[in-house]
Amino acid sequence: MTSDFTYYTPTKVVFGKNTESQVGTLIKEFKGKKVLIHYGSASAKRSGLLDKIITSLIQSGLDYVTLGGVVPNPRLSLVHEGIALCKQEGVDFLLAVGGGSVIDSCKAIGYGLYNEGEVWDFYDRKRVVNGCYPIGAILTLAAAGSEMSSSSVITNEEGDLKRGLNSDTSRCRFAIMNPELTYTLPPYQTMCGAVDIMMHTMERYFTAKGNMFITDGLAEALLKTVIYYAPKLKNKPDDYEGRANLMWASSLSHNGLTSAGNSSPGDWAPHQLEHEIGGMFDVAHGAGLSAIWNSWATYVYANNPSRFANFGEKVFDLPRTKNVEADALAAIEATKDFFASLDMPINLNQLGIHPTEAQIVEMAEKCTFFGKRTLGDFKTLGKEDLIAIYKNAEK
Ligand code: NZQ
Ligand code: ZN
Repeated sequence: MTSDFTYYTPTKVVFGKNTESQVGTLIKEFKGKKVLIHYGSASAKRSGLLDKIITSLIQSGLDYVTLGGVVPNPRLSLVHEGIALCKQEGVDFLLAVGGGSVIDSCKAIGYGLYNEGEVWDFYDRKRVVNGCYPIGAILTLAAAGSEMSSSSVITNEEGDLKRGLNSDTSRCRFAIMNPELTYTLPPYQTMCGAVDIMMHTMERYFTAKGNMFITDGLAEALLKTVIYYAPKLKNKPDDYEGRANLMWASSLSHNGLTSAGNSSPGDWAPHQLEHEIGGMFDVAHGAGLSAIWNSWATYVYANNPSRFANFGEKVFDLPRTKNVEADALAAIEATKDFFASLDMPINLNQLGIHPTEAQIVEMAEKCTFFGKRTLGDFKTLGKEDLIAIYKNAEK
């Protein structure tokens, strides 16, 4: 079935070797004059990328300030610091150099600059954003898809609340993607990225009321691409084809392509379940997803076993039998095995966390915004369901 849709992907993608040297020209194209270069803890400096960027900006006659220190699960306190710095320095363009955390931190700074008042209000659903300062990204990690998505996810240290916010106004003006910049990633981060890329498409695949035929085909091709290339990167981190395919998959998985025409924007319960794990235990997002997915899938598949059976057949080339229930379970098993083959955790124990009963209840309550919403589309989930999924994910 096909539903009406709006597909909006305004980001200019500049993909390939040495593309980061074009950054100054691109910022000028988008009318930036004074730039905030925002980055993470160490990798962009260590690799020499920051120096290269600064050279390009200077050559283009652009003024700049820098702010590093973004950590995975980016924090609100640094966002506040960034907003104050940009106001003081008269910054008019934000450049994110890094992965999802840096891009998301930039988006939050952009909201804080454009809109009056406390920026957390928007993540806390107290107010609605009117716009965002312009952002460009130089991607160094194929994972979150923030370089083309409308989302940003910020953690408020007060209460360990991790909250996402969607607005088209935050979509990057441009995204520079040089697959070679991802060669330096530790294997764990590469595989966390592979899981996250898959999950952005899988969340959109498992809808309650069906998907557009072409969109299913695109989703299956994207998933097969990650399944083909991610294992190769385990032994050969500088495999250009593998890095390039993962990088493009990261963007396509979260720019709306794999939900266009579907009956809903997707399920997203595994993501919401993970966000609370990340907020409380500060784990890597992709690892949190692989640790919770199996429990979620096992809990919900009976709502429509044939959808899971179809997933197993199309994505993992599993044979179909006359027993749809068995085929669905085989699909879940194949996904779990694949994540394990990437050395990703497939339960909370393997993720290295052991939530207490009280912590599980707290995460479930936070997931429902303290009773204000249910989760899921494939199967609607309330607090008790979420508690059961967290518990079943323990081992
Ligand atoms: O800080 P540095 O030193 O750069 O190290 C980072 C960080 O420790 C490292 N890294 C990045 N590029 C590297 C590198 N190390 C070596 N070489 C490189 N080229 O990788 C670590 C993880 O980086 P991070 O940006 O946190 O990873 P990711 O891209 O997976 O982003 C995760 C965040 O994005 C959010 C997640 O919840 C999480 O907070 N998400 C954002 C989304 C969005 N905006 O659309 C959607 C996602 O579902 C997700 O929720
Ligand atoms: Zn994700």
